[in-house]
Amino acid sequence: MKFFIDTANLDQIREAQDLGVLDGVTTNPSLMAKEGISGEENVINHYKAICEIVDGDVSAEVISTDYEGIIKEGLALAELNPKIVVKVPMIKDGVKALKFFSDQGIKTNCTLVFSAGQALLAAKAGATYVSPFIGRLDDISTDGLDLIEKIRVIYDNYSYDTEILAASVRHPMHIIECAEIGADVMTGPLSAITALLKHPLTDIGLEKFLADHAKSNK
Ligand code: E4P
Repeated sequence: MKFFIDTANLDQIREAQDLGVLDGVTTNPSLMAKEGISGEENVINHYKAICEIVDGDVSAEVISTDYEGIIKEGLALAELNPKIVVKVPMIKDGVKALKFFSDQGIKTNCTLVFSAGQALLAAKAGATYVSPFIGRLDDISTDGLDLIEKIRVIYDNYSYDTEILAASVRHPMHIIECAEIGADVMTGPLSAITALLKHPLTDIGLEKFLADHAKSNK
């Protein structure tokens, strides 16, 4: 399972990269705004900075919602670095653009996916990744993990190459359950990734090992 970090914060990206388990980064306009990144040039420079830190794919989202605009923006983003994955919203012009980028060999991430039908369309259009937002579904009392399961079955039925990128991950159990279901990738905050490290018995056990070592080496 690939681990992507869902942030535009360079320090957190560096920390995840240093941990040695990072496979990529996802960003979105809200995450860029949270870091105070605005204006075309600053946004572009920020994507370049992220690409310098990570070894894997970096999703960069288009702002346009019309076909021509999405194509123009996506081509410019893809030019920045081979690591860039053009993130395209699940809308009619977005689906058309996914097909265009796929035909050009440009990697894409179809974002804002909330149903199995949308995921099926994204795969048919040749998306590299499809991003079902599980946390946002949970927020409205709908089981986000059910959607991951449905998409897994559909993609396996037809051997689609599109990778299921479980997005809007909020906590470590989301990651574990996505791994059980067979999501190809998860993207979440650094806190959800580092929470996987934690177990009280590990802390208690280590404390005892170190205390026993100290006693017998006095
Ligand atoms: C996915 O690529 C999105 O950036 C992200 O996972 C959305 O997460 P949120 O629902 O926590 O904003």
